[in-house]
Amino acid sequence: MCGIFCLLSLSPTHFEWDKTIYEHLKRRGPNLSQDLTVTGKNPCYHCFFSAHVLHMRGLLTPQPVRDSTGNVLLWNGEIFGGLPVMPEENDTAVVSQRLSSCNSPAEILSVLSSIRGPWGFVYYQKAGHFLWFGRDFFGRRSLLWKFDADAELLTLTSVAAQTSEADQSAWQEVPAIGVYRIDLKAAKEAGSVTFEVYPWTNAGNDVLFTCSETIRDSVPNSCTAVMSQSGLTLTSPVCPLNMSIPQSLNETDIHPNLNSSVSVLEQLLTSRERNDEVNCLIDALSEAVKRRVQSLPFEVLNDSPPDSEHASVAILFSGGVDSMILAVLADHHVPAIQPIDLLNVAFRLQEPKKQKESAKKPKKHRNTCTDSKTDGAGQTSSPFDVPDRVTGKAGVKELQDLNPERTWNFVEINVTQEELQKMRHERICHLVHPLDTVLDDSIGCAVWFAARGAGFITVTTDGDQRPFTSSAKVILTGIGADEQLAGYSRHRARFKTSGQGGLIQELAMELGRISSRNLGRDDRVIGDHGKEARFPYLDEDVVSYLNSLPVWKKADLSLPRGVGEKLLLRLTAKRLGLGQSAVLPKRAMQFGSRIAKMEDSHEKASDKCTRLLTG
Ligand SMILES: *[C@@H]1O[C@H](CO)[C@@H](O)[C@H](O)[C@H]1NC(C)=O
Ligand SMILES: *[C@@H]1O[C@H](CO)[C@@H](O)[C@H](O)[C@H]1NC(C)=O
Ligand SMILES: *[C@@H]1O[C@H](CO)[C@@H](O)[C@H](O)[C@H]1NC(C)=O
Ligand SMILES: *[C@@H]1O[C@H](CO)[C@@H](O)[C@H](O)[C@H]1NC(C)=O
Ligand SMILES: *[C@@H]1O[C@H](CO)[C@@H](O)[C@H](O)[C@H]1NC(C)=O
Ligand SMILES: *[C@@H]1O[C@H](CO)[C@@H](O)[C@H](O)[C@H]1NC(C)=O
Repeated sequence: MCGIFCLLSLSPTHFEWDKTIYEHLKRRGPNLSQDLTVTGKNPCYHCFFSAHVLHMRGLLTPQPVRDSTGNVLLWNGEIFGGLPVMPEENDTAVVSQRLSSCNSPAEILSVLSSIRGPWGFVYYQKAGHFLWFGRDFFGRRSLLWKFDADAELLTLTSVAAQTSEADQSAWQEVPAIGVYRIDLKAAKEAGSVTFEVYPWTNAGNDVLFTCSETIRDSVPNSCTAVMSQSGLTLTSPVCPLNMSIPQSLNETDIHPNLNSSVSVLEQLLTSRERNDEVNCLIDALSEAVKRRVQSLPFEVLNDSPPDSEHASVAILFSGGVDSMILAVLADHHVPAIQPIDLLNVAFRLQEPKKQKESAKKPKKHRNTCTDSKTDGAGQTSSPFDVPDRVTGKAGVKELQDLNPERTWNFVEINVTQEELQKMRHERICHLVHPLDTVLDDSIGCAVWFAARGAGFITVTTDGDQRPFTSSAKVILTGIGADEQLAGYSRHRARFKTSGQGGLIQELAMELGRISSRNLGRDDRVIGDHGKEARFPYLDEDVVSYLNSLPVWKKADLSLPRGVGEKLLLRLTAKRLGLGQSAVLPKRAMQFGSRIAKMEDSHEKASDKCTRLLTG
């Protein structure tokens, strides 16, 4: 993970930039910061580049990279495949070399299309006075833009800052619909910036239409975006979504005596066809996790031997089926002597109230936590025993049973109202920006505290805890599973009202907007700790496999909750040896961690969140 920043000035005057952003970038890339300014004489412009590198392992590669002909690359990405990277090379250098040898836009697009893995980049092509930038197909790395028309300044950055000035709305996420090219000569003459868009194509989709819709709302004020007249595109790294609808939808035939969800899964797994699908998914996911947790070959050379004290991999862990599968697969690929950190976040209510009388309001009652009360079973429970904590604890037991040799650090991250307010104000509001809803606030805060990894682990069988901070720089998250396998309750609603056809439309739409809904924000939030988010469910091969399957093999919403949604994933979990966690119903993070209950109000998830404003 790196923090990248580029400021393009079309006016000859001296330019200033916001130093708070510099601090935010430095947190993303704490190991090396370097700036570089390029000045064009004819046409006259300045490009200021600032790069902040997070050292993962092996040798540190300085950025910005300037090649011998004066081209400059800012690269915030990982190559997990697609471009050969030799053991003695580093991926930033490989991308730079590849791009240097390109003479035409078609060649640039071909290099970018070939890369498997997340990226955001800015590339200055000196000979033609072009500035290129963009994000990978899913938008797994953040990139924001803003244009100041008076000063003729365009800014591109991984992370921005919330300001109390009037220009609150100025920052926007660069839509992950393709890559963009600015002709600096033309911009200079016009005094304004035009972005030439080279879109991702995915055979069968009406890409150009969707792109122009998306971009109309997202281009900075006073700038214009136009589809490239060349007709050139980037090739989608995944196959298109299988839109087929069954001729007759057979109700899944479940033996009437099967009254537990686990036995339903067991029965389904006896089908040969289901088995093949499960095995294919395991192969793809396992490979995706492996690429993300093992040293890449070119990193191995200078790596120190695996460390038995400190984990290098952590997982955002609720104990639900998505995170459990990641944990099992990470266990297969992380060296046996290394611990794996399971990050589990819980928020407590500020003022626990005695709510005996609230029994008549069952919903309220469920949401109320009281201090060290005793529950029915005679065990003390804590105000942090939120739903995700309870399932997390059960999940780690299953993992310990599966591999007792592994050190599983179940990190209990207990967050108080005071700390939440403090850190939201100091840090999180800047990272979530320019997203701004109640949901962005809830998830942004929950992910930030989880990724920080500071909490407690239990050290004795008596339950004694000691403070613990995760040292892992790689954080796996389960994002993408619900979007692809129909995990959300809105999928059920859609299925009920409009059947398989409606469900397919919903799934197609969700994968398309995951960059603007989630990924940019999560990348900014996790990157703030000098850690790198990795998303195995959004690995190109995993998505391709899931896309190739018809929807009814991924989910069967005629089956009950806890089985039907993400059915294929639940079968996969069962096959991997998991038990009860395979049949936990989906619980959104803001509810599972109880952060949504911190704020005592009737706000909707889509409302603008005033708590995020610093002003
Ligand atoms: C990178 O920065 C982090 C955070 O400051 C530090 O813990 C780590 O030792 C640094 N690594 C190197 C190789 O300098
Ligand atoms: C990165 O790769 C380039 C080209 O292979 C090499 O010249 C450079 O020394 C490498 N940098 C580091 C820090 O390994
Ligand atoms: C439904 O059952 C029939 C007959 O068993 C079969 O031919 C057809 O492929 C099934 N449809 C689906 C969607 O599984
Ligand atoms: C579930 O089925 C098992 C045997 O199949 C039976 O022993 C048990 O009583 C059943 N439970 C319920 C709640 O029906
Ligand atoms: C954190 O919360 C858990 C409840 O899930 C509780 O058992 C533990 O004592 C808490 N730890 C601290 C240090 O507050
Ligand atoms: C979509 O799924 C159906 C049913 O399994 C299959 O026959 C068809 O080949 C798939 N289409 C694509 C494009 O993969």
